[in-house]
Amino acid sequence: MKTVNLTINQLLDQIAQFTSQETKGVTRLLYDEHWIEAQKFLLELGQMIGLDSGFDQVGNVILTKYGIENDKSVITIGSHIDSVVNAGKYDGIYGVAAAIIAIKELLAEYGAPKKTIQVISFCEEEGSRFPFTFTGSKNLINQLPDDIYQLVDKTGESFEKAQAKAIHALKSRFPLVKALLPTAYAEIHIEQGPVLERLNKEIGIVTAIVAQKRFTVTITGKSNHAGTTPMWLRIDPLKQAVKMINQLEVIALEIGEPFVFTVGEMSISPNASNVIPEEAIFSIDIRHTDEKELQFFEELIYKFAKKQELELDGLEIEINKWTDVCVERMNETYIEALQAICLEKQLSFNLMPSGAGHDTQIVNRIAPTALLFVPSIDGISHSPKEFTTAENLEKGKTVFKQFIYDLAY
Ligand code: GLV
Ligand code: MN
Ligand code: MN
Repeated sequence: MKTVNLTINQLLDQIAQFTSQETKGVTRLLYDEHWIEAQKFLLELGQMIGLDSGFDQVGNVILTKYGIENDKSVITIGSHIDSVVNAGKYDGIYGVAAAIIAIKELLAEYGAPKKTIQVISFCEEEGSRFPFTFTGSKNLINQLPDDIYQLVDKTGESFEKAQAKAIHALKSRFPLVKALLPTAYAEIHIEQGPVLERLNKEIGIVTAIVAQKRFTVTITGKSNHAGTTPMWLRIDPLKQAVKMINQLEVIALEIGEPFVFTVGEMSISPNASNVIPEEAIFSIDIRHTDEKELQFFEELIYKFAKKQELELDGLEIEINKWTDVCVERMNETYIEALQAICLEKQLSFNLMPSGAGHDTQIVNRIAPTALLFVPSIDGISHSPKEFTTAENLEKGKTVFKQFIYDLAY
């Protein structure tokens, strides 16, 4: 593996090859074969640059350089290896690649750190295979619930089975370890939005990450013949789904910025043109910096569902809330330190909230955190069109590396 002197961009190109060929962009879902190969690649890379390299019980890759001072600090850096379906090559993995390159350069330039540095490639953040998010960072802080193992993906495979296969594959070559509990955490990520590019700024320093809730709504009606069933005798779950989504959209627009409401996933069955569907299932993703607005909207979802059930005999609506995270604010001292680094390196910066979820918000429950952004061209993300210039990837790493140096050396 000729990886030791790679630039971040070259490393990202290599990791982008660990993908399903079924989509144009990168598709690397938790515990799939491409995910396994990507995590193995990082474990090998960690070994090559002299880090203690292992993985934990959920498949987080943990690369550690122990500090020479006998001190309890654990400076933890990283991001996630999983992607959404048909993603770009930067979301999550940029933070892993930048962390690995930063530590490699720090070791070469200054030798072993005073404080322990732990790089983590989190197994999952996106929630794109199973209806569960932040598996990796929740496991790190010992807040992973026990009831996720029965969850199933779209093919019916359970979380438990998928995990067992992946862990077995990693175990054949690398040690199973337990990560150290972070005393500080820093992550660098692409912005995934248009603000830095519009403001012509090189670095984003994140002040807070929005609160977020995700639901799966399952509407069950009565399947029947499309030609013989009069309109007034139908129990059509898809039309009820459309009604609910339209009502929610009106309220979402009334709430206004920075509230966002997304239905990104929908399936109907049996999905045939001459059959009234039996079932419609769709996702709801809502985010805001004000938790009260999210709570208000959540209550409306339940209220609309109840009303629609009462209005149409035989209709059933089940709502499963599977993500509920509150606003997290990044550490003030770190925000100031990052501004000072940008000024010193003559890089322009913007203080900003994050509308996307990040592992930082989970680790922030137990340790002070910092989150940095680099600009996304056209603000596009969760798409193969996701792009950040090589120059900006390097600038972000320079700030990140200095920050790690200041914490660990
Ligand atoms: C994660 O990428 C999210 O959906 O915010
Ligand atoms: Mn991400
Ligand atoms: Mn993402």
